[in-house]
Amino acid sequence: MNVLLIGSGGREHALAWKIAQSPQIGKLLCVPGNTGTAHHGHNVPFLLDHMDALVDLAQRESIDLVVVGPEKPLADGIADRFTAVGIPVFGPSAAATQIESSKAYAKVIMAEAGVPTAIAHVFDSAEAAAAFVRSNGGVWVVKVDGLAQGKGVVVPNNVEETLAAIEQLNSDLPDQHFLLEERLVGREVSVLALCDGSRLVVLPPARDHKRLGDGDVGPNTGGMGVVAPVDDVSPGQLDQIALTCIQPVVDALAARGTPFRGVIYAGIMLTETGPKVLEYNARFGDPEAQALVPLIEGDLLEALYACATGKLQPEKLRRRKGYAVCVVLCAAGYPEQPRKGDSIRGVEALDDDKVIIFHAGTALGSTGLCTAGGRVMGVTGMGSTLRQARERAYEAAAGIRFDGKHHRMDIGKESSS
Ligand code: AMP
Ligand code: GLY
Repeated sequence: MNVLLIGSGGREHALAWKIAQSPQIGKLLCVPGNTGTAHHGHNVPFLLDHMDALVDLAQRESIDLVVVGPEKPLADGIADRFTAVGIPVFGPSAAATQIESSKAYAKVIMAEAGVPTAIAHVFDSAEAAAAFVRSNGGVWVVKVDGLAQGKGVVVPNNVEETLAAIEQLNSDLPDQHFLLEERLVGREVSVLALCDGSRLVVLPPARDHKRLGDGDVGPNTGGMGVVAPVDDVSPGQLDQIALTCIQPVVDALAARGTPFRGVIYAGIMLTETGPKVLEYNARFGDPEAQALVPLIEGDLLEALYACATGKLQPEKLRRRKGYAVCVVLCAAGYPEQPRKGDSIRGVEALDDDKVIIFHAGTALGSTGLCTAGGRVMGVTGMGSTLRQARERAYEAAAGIRFDGKHHRMDIGKESSS
């Protein structure tokens, strides 16, 4: 089977690593890929905006399956373009991707499907949202409607902060619709499931650590590290989350004639009154994929193809026993102004079934491997206990050297086993 993989982050390296292990793999083309994906397939430097040329490439190379990593091309309709020429795609249509690309749409679908979520009000301007807060008071979580690369949500503590958040978001991300949402309290967990339009394969519950600093302090980032599975979600609870928070939305999308084929990612708050959905993503998380993909036993490529063609056989994929802890190593200056070009040493000796290195912001320069982005690489430790997985990840992380390297020290620490 010839595969075209879209994206260039650590998530796509994890997907390429696993897809390349399939006995069914033929050619693997990564567009544009990164230093890590080049170990498993061929990188093709390509601008994703040039969709016609991309479709031509897929046809010329007899691609059997397109796998899409990031949300932006999905929201732009990349899956629709390949579907139109008869090439199966793992990744939803632009219509189904709206569960991520429009928070207001996600709320409509959740209401229709009876999914538990925070109460929300939608406004077509910042002024209207601010007027509501001024006349009704209250503390609201402020969100912009569209894709915002993780920068579209503020959780204020009082009315003044709520009004300031609306103003700030409006100046950072102009011309957006706004949501004011009831603030939920609890622990967060991410539940991802492969989906073929109707059936699900639910992956182990995962927890990202989005703040830059230990103990969840400092600015928000794309994600500093992931633990999976998390022990505070029992198998019974996971089934309940799939049943109440994911399956109804998948069914509602199918009923609308826009079936969801790809990976559906539910951000969940475990509240006192049960799990509630904070958001959906229409893709694997990054770095969630770097912890979850190594926990999948069996042929992921076969499963992705089955999702794309509506024929998922959930019993065929198994979950590897044990834990995965992914620690993200960042470049000097991340997240504000990451520095590029620092030489990286100590990666060569790594990569076995206990530790896997997933490249994100790296490049091959004239002096060898160097930093080329904010999140440089993810180091995933595997173990039969959480503690063992964490120790393996941190031991390997310590052996990788580059000027300005920094990472969190507390990934997987809270509930050592
Ligand atoms: P989202 O992109 O909607 O998941 O929001 C990003 C982060 O904001 C979440 O991971 C939560 O930590 C926080 N958040 C979002 N919505 C709420 C809410 N209704 N109540 C409390 N925290 C929230
Ligand atoms: N790590 C969070 C995300 O991918 O959305």
